[in-house]
Amino acid sequence: MYGDIVILSGAGISAESGIPTFRDSDGLWNNHRVEDVATIEAWYKNPAAVHAFYNQLKKDIADKQPNPAHLAITRLQREYKNGAVNVVTQNVDLLHEKAGNTNVWHIHGQIDQAVCMRCGRVLPAAGDMDEKAVCPSCGVAGKIKPNIVFFGENLLYMDKVEALLARCRLFVSVGTSGAVFPANTFARTAKYHGAETVEFNVGETVNRYDFDRHVTGPAGTTLPAFVDELLKERTEEADIVGDR
Ligand code: OAD
Repeated sequence: MYGDIVILSGAGISAESGIPTFRDSDGLWNNHRVEDVATIEAWYKNPAAVHAFYNQLKKDIADKQPNPAHLAITRLQREYKNGAVNVVTQNVDLLHEKAGNTNVWHIHGQIDQAVCMRCGRVLPAAGDMDEKAVCPSCGVAGKIKPNIVFFGENLLYMDKVEALLARCRLFVSVGTSGAVFPANTFARTAKYHGAETVEFNVGETVNRYDFDRHVTGPAGTTLPAFVDELLKERTEEADIVGDR
């Protein structure tokens, strides 16, 4: 296999680390209403409730550790020599970084950051936040929001992602239901540009027809095996070239 690889991750890649997904039976959206905590309207209507939700989520995921799926990506990034490996993640947790993944694009934002809705400055947000905080950049109070992309807001890094999708030869989707636009169109875009598309999930996904191959099972088991296969293929290809 030669060429760039893009890995799209969703909540399922972190499930084996003990972080609940959104739409599975024990998922976050079964215990909370999206409309109350994850829409831009909710933020304007009741910022205190939104801060409370993300303060709690931050605490819940603080001690969670990467699992073999995240670590398989680290290995792929270190050992794959035939192109770039980028990670486009919908996850706001930082398990890709904790695992040592590089080139990680947080299109839905990240839990350890805030953004000032007045001046646009992105700020570190390690601890609790509240609706009264003053922006250190513009000095305005009450405009600091978790740097999480809510329904009704634009995704982050989309120019970069579009360029990556147009270039990649292999698109790998891990642990995402395909329920949320526009991440659920990335496989089709990559395929349109000629990439092979593979998905890893424990179940069926909304956009399963956009994938050439489906690997069913927990990502902590299936992804490391796939990375082994990919890297072995690379070694065999190099041997064939060497024999000529
Ligand atoms: P979902 O909760 O919609 O989907 C999680 C997917 O992971 C499901 O398809 C599960 O079958 C799969 N899954 C669960 N455990 C798995 C495992 N061990 N191995 C492989 N797959 C597994 O989560 P997302 O698709 O990530 O946005 O949701 C997309 C966005 O919706 C989130 O980023 C979030 C949410 O609203 C924001 O909060 C901005």
